[in-house]
Amino acid sequence: MLIKKPTYHDDILPSEITPRDLYRRRREFLKQAAALGLAGTMLPQSVRAQTAAPVIEQGKLAKLAGRASPLSAKDKLTPHKDVVTYNNYYEFGTDKHQPAQYAHRLRSRPWSVAIEGEVKNKGPIDIEDLLKLAPMEERIYRMRCVEGWSMVIPWVGYSFAELVKRVQPTARAKYVAFTTALQPDTMIGLRLPVLEWPYVEGLRMDEAMHPLTLLCFGLYGEVLPGQNGAPVRLVVPWKYGFKSIKSIDKITFMESMPKTSWNVSAAHEYGFYSNVNPAVDHPRWSQATERRIGEDGFFTPKRKTLMFNGYAEQVAGLYKGMDLKKFY
Ligand code: MTE
Repeated sequence: MLIKKPTYHDDILPSEITPRDLYRRRREFLKQAAALGLAGTMLPQSVRAQTAAPVIEQGKLAKLAGRASPLSAKDKLTPHKDVVTYNNYYEFGTDKHQPAQYAHRLRSRPWSVAIEGEVKNKGPIDIEDLLKLAPMEERIYRMRCVEGWSMVIPWVGYSFAELVKRVQPTARAKYVAFTTALQPDTMIGLRLPVLEWPYVEGLRMDEAMHPLTLLCFGLYGEVLPGQNGAPVRLVVPWKYGFKSIKSIDKITFMESMPKTSWNVSAAHEYGFYSNVNPAVDHPRWSQATERRIGEDGFFTPKRKTLMFNGYAEQVAGLYKGMDLKKFY
């Protein structure tokens, strides 16, 4: 998502083009990764895909089934192998295949989530208690990355609103900030100065309370693998993927709008709202179409991106009267 490109070409994704300074920083990062014995990073793509394979097998993770949800999309699912090997999790590297190679190192136990800020029931919640807090559902959601690709993923979790009800925010709470854990010894990407760490995302309170906003613990009926944000993440299907923050260890209820990592890094490119909107282009590329991972053959036409990622009926009311060009 960082990748700079002066003009928009239809045949090459802007995100596939590497600017010189990121390229330089990435070279530096690769050198450090090699020094750490992470030699797989240096290998060409074809070999890297092979090194990722054991992680998929290791992906025989504990079962986490949930009842089917009426909020599920009817789209064809993206293959499991793509969901767990084509990832954005910059704490584990900026290449799509690096999280699958390195995120098994993430320590997801013991784990607790701190509840802070404008809320009555502050304090840490242990992950085992969080797992039991409300009945799990399987929610099939369309996911649209700001870079122009999409997936359809069967997530497992419950509405974030369930947690909010229990922790009881005060009347002053207008926003919620989510923070990803910092594990410098497992997260090799923290050495890459692409973002201000830790990764922070935020929602307005009414967005956070919307039933579609999922506190997510699993996918494809298993607990989340590291690369998808173990042990607990957020999934907000009508917003660009970067709002769906991974490996959350802090939730802060706030009176004012939180600073979010992508907005801090490039405010003119990544706004606070970041609702999927085919009518508002990213400054460096169009957002009108997308390629769906798993069905992107050479001749496969791109899909038209839908307003609010196809969830307009459910969420458009949240933004009534707002100029979505201004509040992007
Ligand atoms: N959360 C953290 N902590 N770090 C990240 O780099 N990337 C975001 C989001 N959550 C990211 C993150 C982006 S850009 C996307 S598209 C989604 O995670 C990808 O989620 P997935 O890999 O499970 O498909």
